[in-house]
Amino acid sequence: MNTEQAARRHQQLSAELHRHGRLYHSFDRPEISDADYDRLFRELLELEQAFPQLATADSPSQRVGAPPLEKFPSVRHGLPMLSLENAANDEEIGEFEARIQRFLGQSDALEYVCEPKLDGVAVELVYQAGRLTVGSTRGDGQTGEQITENLRTIAAIPLLLQEPCPELLEVRGEVYMDLAAFQALNREREEEGLPVFANPRNAAAGSLRQLDSTITARRPLQFFAYGIGRISTPLPDSHRQLLEQLRQWGLRVNLEETRLAANLSELLANFHDLQLRRDQLPYEIDGMVVKVNSLALQSELGTKTRTPRWAVACKFPPRQATTRVEDIVLQVGRTGAITPVAQLRPVEVSGVTVSRASLHNWDEIARLDVRIGDTVVVERAGDVIPDVVRVLKDQRSGQERMVPLPETCPACGGPVVKLDGEVVPRCQELSCPARLRESLKHFVARRAMDIDGLGERTLEVLLEKGLIRSVADLYSLRREDLLACPRQGEKSVDKLLKAIAGSKSRPLNRLLFALGIRHVGEHLAKVLADQFGSLEALAAADRDALLAIHEVGPQVADSVLDFFRKARNRTILDELQQSGVIPQSAVSRNTGPWSGRSFVFTGSLERLTRGQAQELVEKFGGRAAGSVSKKTDYVIAGADAGSKLDKARQLNLPILSEEDFLRMVTEQEQS
Ligand code: IVH
Repeated sequence: MNTEQAARRHQQLSAELHRHGRLYHSFDRPEISDADYDRLFRELLELEQAFPQLATADSPSQRVGAPPLEKFPSVRHGLPMLSLENAANDEEIGEFEARIQRFLGQSDALEYVCEPKLDGVAVELVYQAGRLTVGSTRGDGQTGEQITENLRTIAAIPLLLQEPCPELLEVRGEVYMDLAAFQALNREREEEGLPVFANPRNAAAGSLRQLDSTITARRPLQFFAYGIGRISTPLPDSHRQLLEQLRQWGLRVNLEETRLAANLSELLANFHDLQLRRDQLPYEIDGMVVKVNSLALQSELGTKTRTPRWAVACKFPPRQATTRVEDIVLQVGRTGAITPVAQLRPVEVSGVTVSRASLHNWDEIARLDVRIGDTVVVERAGDVIPDVVRVLKDQRSGQERMVPLPETCPACGGPVVKLDGEVVPRCQELSCPARLRESLKHFVARRAMDIDGLGERTLEVLLEKGLIRSVADLYSLRREDLLACPRQGEKSVDKLLKAIAGSKSRPLNRLLFALGIRHVGEHLAKVLADQFGSLEALAAADRDALLAIHEVGPQVADSVLDFFRKARNRTILDELQQSGVIPQSAVSRNTGPWSGRSFVFTGSLERLTRGQAQELVEKFGGRAAGSVSKKTDYVIAGADAGSKLDKARQLNLPILSEEDFLRMVTEQEQS
């Protein structure tokens, strides 16, 4: 391929990847499968490796981070980034409306837009001629820190806008972290002996303010746009229309949770309703932002020094309660990390009974000065497991007991070491039963090998009976062993054995994640799987080969080398291989009985998630595509299938039910 051909193909690929990125993140309407996206992406990377000049700043490849900075340059916002006045209850919200009506000299009802107040970090994104050129934090409102490279790593932030778009557009919005991602990150950090983030906001802020943007790239950050600064084209009439317009340009907007209110009473109803639904949202919110919908009225109302007159933040009360620390127990994780957990006298915190709180590590115990017997204030930040925020020291009786750093492992009595720079001590015993239990829990978890039916209690019994000594033993469990476990009947045992057998064909990235190699989380597992293609190739890689990967630093490289050097791990890997846990890599995917066949899933499936359906197709070498075309071999239609099914009928394609598809899978599995 010559330079010109490469440039042409690169442009095609970039345009497609940008479009599919927007469809996935901003419109929630993907047209191609993740595997197809990955294939296009790999082709782009290969082109850029051969022709490095093609890797320009707005290439879809530029989300992995750039070389570290010394410090963040500052950047002046085109228009000040304002903050909001707060209203704590219905009365204060009423006063907000009364103020507006006084200012406007009228008492007509006003229309409002109500948006969840996301608890993250406010940022500004400047798009010039549709390209993301500068991204910054709010800073003092006039001047912020330029964090363009970090923002570029967030997949939900488009690098290019959808045309036609304004010559200049300054977008404002919130970078945040979903609760599940926040909890997973903290669990990983706890295991690593690193300080944990107190809440999703701190996690988002800490991840964004990294001088090394490759660290930001590894953090699961999200983004919602909620407003604008300057814009070079005329504005629509209302804020709601502006939000819709932003979505058209490809920005991710939280329209699903945005409500209109025709008057104050509807506004208050929205506020109460959102507060009730707060725990069901996948992200933490601390209130509801209310904005006057008419942009003409917004402009008439104008702003005070730091806040607009046309908006207010209706804050939820904090979810706090007071209770007693009855005990502080020590938990041993799969890497041996020992974490202190407070057992609390059960207390209700806004509708949920809580009885434990992680204290994370001994630095945190010292910072809070928390002791057994203390009365403490606990707060729930979206999570059911709360944090201890404060000790009420004036309630001490003098009988409270401190919890010292353990000298031996509380689970196995083995030696404990606390390394410099780490905040938790670690059990050093590889065969520690608590470590083994936690490794098994991790191995079978949904995001790892996804073995359904192997709950904590069953694992406990299997461990007690000595039936499993490592993750590899899971694959030699016999029917009669399982039947001898309490609460296991014929049916559940058969289901479990099927689930164990089914897990043998998980892709390489899942197996790598499941093995629990230190510092290799879900994201890096995928990077390593994509790069090496097989377990053998990864096991044979030397330090240089590992370090040659952009996202792999010395810590990860050493941890991978160390993992494959350990004799115990090599034995486990051999056993896994013998049991047929043969990881399929993305690279070796296109062989198998369904090779060359393409499947499209549409409508809602009852027994499989889309991800599971796709994995099954790929397991036999097929391809799960996002859209129906003449080349589609099978369309699998679930309930409420729409336009894809219509198209399949027009094209006379074979249409299968979910049951038909599962039958095909069973046939393959048995052949
Ligand atoms: S509007 C002039 N809308 O809340 C309007 N802010 O002080 C300025 N926030 O840190 C902000 N969700 O980042 C607006 N839907 C939303 C928001 C929101 C969260 C944050 C914002 C700022 C704080 C307001």
